[in-house]
Amino acid sequence: MELVIASNNKNKVREIREILQGKFEAIYSLSDLGIHSDAEETASDFLGNALIKARSVAAFTDKAVLADDSGLAVDVLCGAPGVFSARYAGEHATDDQNNELLLKKLAGKEDRNAKFIATVVLLYPNGTYVVGEGSVEGAILEEKKGKSGFGYDPLFYSYELKKTFGEATEEEKNGVSHRARALENLLTKL
Ligand code: IMP
Repeated sequence: MELVIASNNKNKVREIREILQGKFEAIYSLSDLGIHSDAEETASDFLGNALIKARSVAAFTDKAVLADDSGLAVDVLCGAPGVFSARYAGEHATDDQNNELLLKKLAGKEDRNAKFIATVVLLYPNGTYVVGEGSVEGAILEEKKGKSGFGYDPLFYSYELKKTFGEATEEEKNGVSHRARALENLLTKL
């Protein structure tokens, strides 16, 4: 099967490609196929948004489409930023701005437990789809550590890796990440 990854986030595309290496005949990014799609994520949950992204790309291709929607859920913030993770500090917020806001919201809080959550959808050309889900637990540090990855990675201390995702190599992160787990969960269903 040939697959298109429905994401404009280069970091996500790189991670997904790495994790799915050898599992599909060919894996394309949107730019490989010259597809421009930036659907508005209007759903209130990860699955809804992953389906919006997958369907908007499916309109441009006959290949199967893989979409991911993911985010950070912080216990003491009742699951925020959740589906708003990419735009926590505003519509076109940078990773730095989102991280700053998160640190502000957690100032003085003792409970720093959080998890990354990912839902992936594989949408077939006939409109049917398969869903995979994954998560990884950790804690939000009081300052950033490491320069790898993207998004909240430098603030997210993984209990399993005993370091932040920002300090981890891509291989280490892919060994435990929410996205890797969601993709593994999807593969078991295919
Ligand atoms: P999406 O493109 O709507 O799925 O946005 C996901 C957002 O959640 C990203 O922009 C990041 O802020 C955050 N996020 C999701 N996965 C990760 C990750 O693996 N590391 C760091 N941040 C992540």
